[in-house]
Amino acid sequence: MSSAARQVEPAEDAFAEELAFLAAHDDGPRPPGWRLTPRAAVTFVTGSGGDTLALPSGVTVPGVPARLAIGPKFVGERALVERAVVTLAGERGLLLVGEPGTAKSMLSELLAAAVSGDSQLVVQGTAGTTEDQLRYGWNYALLLAEGPSPRALVPSPVMTAMRTGGVVRVEEVTRCLPEVQDALVSILSDRRLAVPELSGTDGATVHAAPGFTVIATANLRDRGVSEMSAALKRRFNFEAVGPIGDLAREIALVRRQAVTALERVNAPFALDDVVLEALVTAFRDLRAGVSVEGWSVERPSTVMSTAEAVSVATSLGLADAYFPGDRDPLSLLPGHLLGVVRKDDPSDAARLLGYWDGAVRRRAETGARTWRRLWELRDVLDG
Ligand SMILES: Nc1ncnc2c1ncn2[C@@H]1O[C@H](COP(=O)(O)OP(=O)(O)OP(=O)(O)O)[C@@H](O)[C@H]1O
Ligand SMILES: [Mg+2]
Repeated sequence: MSSAARQVEPAEDAFAEELAFLAAHDDGPRPPGWRLTPRAAVTFVTGSGGDTLALPSGVTVPGVPARLAIGPKFVGERALVERAVVTLAGERGLLLVGEPGTAKSMLSELLAAAVSGDSQLVVQGTAGTTEDQLRYGWNYALLLAEGPSPRALVPSPVMTAMRTGGVVRVEEVTRCLPEVQDALVSILSDRRLAVPELSGTDGATVHAAPGFTVIATANLRDRGVSEMSAALKRRFNFEAVGPIGDLAREIALVRRQAVTALERVNAPFALDDVVLEALVTAFRDLRAGVSVEGWSVERPSTVMSTAEAVSVATSLGLADAYFPGDRDPLSLLPGHLLGVVRKDDPSDAARLLGYWDGAVRRRAETGARTWRRLWELRDVLDG
């Protein structure tokens, strides 16, 4: 493996210690081809809830600590993660659907890392995705030189996962054309992939090894899941991934992820909790169309996702780290919110102003300092 720095580590590298620990911690039976038991896989994804886990007495594994707390990663219902893991244990396809920025991709990566130790077998669905990208292609130089041979075959991530009994991720599956999606139907039902060009040889059929499964994601804002063929839908268990229900958990997540992002660039994280709380509260009010107090809020058409709350918190943290003392981070918040809101529809800016004239003003009137300050910054939005 190259030692060059990377912006993003795959989950199995970023959490290698946790994965090795969990494999030793829970030595119960695992489904064929799995690295972890289903229970350990769920613990990996959701974290150990602050508990420090210990290896069974007498068990030591070189390079693996005897005790470890598993960090929280995906924030959501444990039951959802359990169902997802059970689906995969039954070698059924798993389809994660939801609004943008609800961590569908993150969850699929974590699950793949937990189950097969490799989250990097990925096909990105786009309007231009071809069947070859789901099946196989050819190295044309070799194909011309020596005709079709196993050596000239370029396997897709799907084919590789079938051979190794791993998990392949298909991102944004509904963006693929229906006839391309249908390539998955036969793979998921027959569990084999024919290579007619190699007929008569060993390579003519690739059989899925135990453990092979597909995790697909689909975004509800894209061309709908309804456009998936009924045959393909039947081969997946659907799980709807929603926004984070609890304010405190969302604030904690945003803080955690912003801290991680700043650590990566060696910048100290010094955002006040009041700033984070105001930021996450504004996102949640605008997302839900109703404030925490129950006041109605006109929702912008753009999605106010947690993913974007994380990126705003990171920007505020970076501004504070690189331009310390210039401006207080709170004063930058309205401008960042405007940037998030204005993406899809220009009239969303007016809706944000409406939020200021409604909920923000009313909170300011009750005397809360943060909200008084935000109210004073109204001009930023009224450009
Ligand atoms: N429930 C959650 N738990 C943990 N992180 C979350 C959660 N919701 C959002 N996030 C944050 O959102 C980021 C992006 O999520 P991700 O890209 O996986 O979303 P997505 O649902 O795949 O979005 P898209 O539909 O745009 O592809 C995550 O890295 C994380 O910072
Ligand atoms: Mg995604």
